[in-house]
Amino acid sequence: MTFPGSEDYGPGWWREYYPVVFPLWKPWNQPLEGEAEKVIGFILQNVNWDPQAPFLDLGCGEGRHSRWLVRRGLQGYALDFFRDRISWGVERSSAQGLSGPGFIQADMRLPPFKHHSFGLILLMDTTFGIFDDPTNLLLLQQLYQLLAQGGTLFMQVLNPQFWGRGEMVVDLGKGNGWRGRLMRRYRFDQGSSLLYDQLWLEGERGEVLHRYPDQILRLYRTEEMVALCLQSGFQKVKFCSAADWGPPDSLYEFHPDSPEYYVFAQ
Ligand SMILES: C[S@@+](CC[C@H](N)C(=O)[O-])C[C@H]1O[C@@H](n2cnc3c(N)ncnc32)[C@H](O)[C@@H]1O
Repeated sequence: MTFPGSEDYGPGWWREYYPVVFPLWKPWNQPLEGEAEKVIGFILQNVNWDPQAPFLDLGCGEGRHSRWLVRRGLQGYALDFFRDRISWGVERSSAQGLSGPGFIQADMRLPPFKHHSFGLILLMDTTFGIFDDPTNLLLLQQLYQLLAQGGTLFMQVLNPQFWGRGEMVVDLGKGNGWRGRLMRRYRFDQGSSLLYDQLWLEGERGEVLHRYPDQILRLYRTEEMVALCLQSGFQKVKFCSAADWGPPDSLYEFHPDSPEYYVFAQ
């Protein structure tokens, strides 16, 4: 199966968004590394796969999850579209004295791998839902084909039941050389099931000094996610809630109040 050739298939907001917005998150990078360690511990306790089969971390960013997998003795690939993200990942990996992962710059819709190659595929931190419905489905179909027998797709996704309760505005404060306060608004459109994540700089009198591009994510309810996974070839789909992070050896039921949830598809 192939995508319809054109690079611009599906919505293209992400091309403009990531290069502009990612440098803003630098002050938050350190805590995110710690969160990745926890999630990887959880995955390793709960997912069985042949450790000879490599992992694939799609939309890896700086590869924080992949680097924890490598620290735990596993090998695999971390793929991202943007060269600077990959470069930061390579730098961090070598600064940490790690022998991997293999970083690859590519479009996740056209992953350059053979079928049945991977034991574990990760889509972490709002990396699923970037495209439109047909493209998101095609992506899952491809990922199913990339998995080896008994392999698992593990995804972190936002929960529309939580985000649909009303607009949320967060004041991220001053710092990082910004000209004003960095503000963030999440607005979920029930009709389209799209979450608009907006960022802007605000001056002393509440005036908008600068607007950044929006992140626009398609959020799927758990029942929609089951349907997508089954349509893609997966036979088993399980969920757990991120808000319930507890000891890493337990699985938690999906909770409707949780802002995000995790999907295991096999
Ligand atoms: C929300 S970030 C998550 C990064 C990483 N998984 C983490 O948890 O730190 C989404 C990532 O997907 C990447 N991405 C977006 N569109 C992509 C595409 N078409 N192909 C490959 N990577 C893409 C972005 O560059 C970004 O690094």
